[in-house]
Amino acid sequence: MKTNRRLRLAVLISGTGSNLKALIDAIGQGRLNASIAAVISNRADAHGLRHARAAHIPCTVIDSSGCSARKALDDGISECLEAVDPDLVVLAGYMRILGPEVVRRFLGKMINLHPSLLPKFPGLNTYERAIAAGEQHHGSSIHFVTEGLDDGPLISQVVLAIHSADTPQTLASRLGPLEHQLIVATVQLFAHRDVRMIQDHIEIDGEPLRSPLVFDIQSNEFF
Ligand code: GRF
Repeated sequence: MKTNRRLRLAVLISGTGSNLKALIDAIGQGRLNASIAAVISNRADAHGLRHARAAHIPCTVIDSSGCSARKALDDGISECLEAVDPDLVVLAGYMRILGPEVVRRFLGKMINLHPSLLPKFPGLNTYERAIAAGEQHHGSSIHFVTEGLDDGPLISQVVLAIHSADTPQTLASRLGPLEHQLIVATVQLFAHRDVRMIQDHIEIDGEPLRSPLVFDIQSNEFF
């Protein structure tokens, strides 16, 4: 079932925003049938805000510094998302854990990009940990956001080989462009297909997804 609806997105960032930029570029070039209705950052100095402002996307900064700011941050994010009413919320380099109320409110409508082949290496420093563990492959995953850290049902992944000379930096620099392709293709999937989280699994056009879709960089498609 192809739907090809124009998705209304909200994107949450914390830093560089290269994945946000990939989404903006893909929309601008007509490769992604979506619009970005809001960018939310928990840091006023996030470089990604420049990409959003250059593309005339409304930005909201909800400063997360200070422990007492956690509830204020969650409430601010909820309020902003409620006002924007997005079809899909994309956590693209958003480095804070969202509180359970926000997660529950947008359950099934919120996805996260994580730089590891989940369920391996949830959390931080994934490149270092993959190399230290002697892994042959690393990659990135996109999953529905649930209350557990990097723990929701997996939608898609991109895989790359780890070389013997790799450092966390070389691995990160090779993975970056692949993540950009993955995030665009995965958001496009939501525009083209009926992608649903049903309890702890995913259905696409009514068919259960038995394992995450693997992105093929050459063909720019999932297999
Ligand atoms: C990406 O590697 C993403 O997987 C992780 O944070 C990084 C964000 O990069 N969650 P950017 O801010 O999109 O450049």
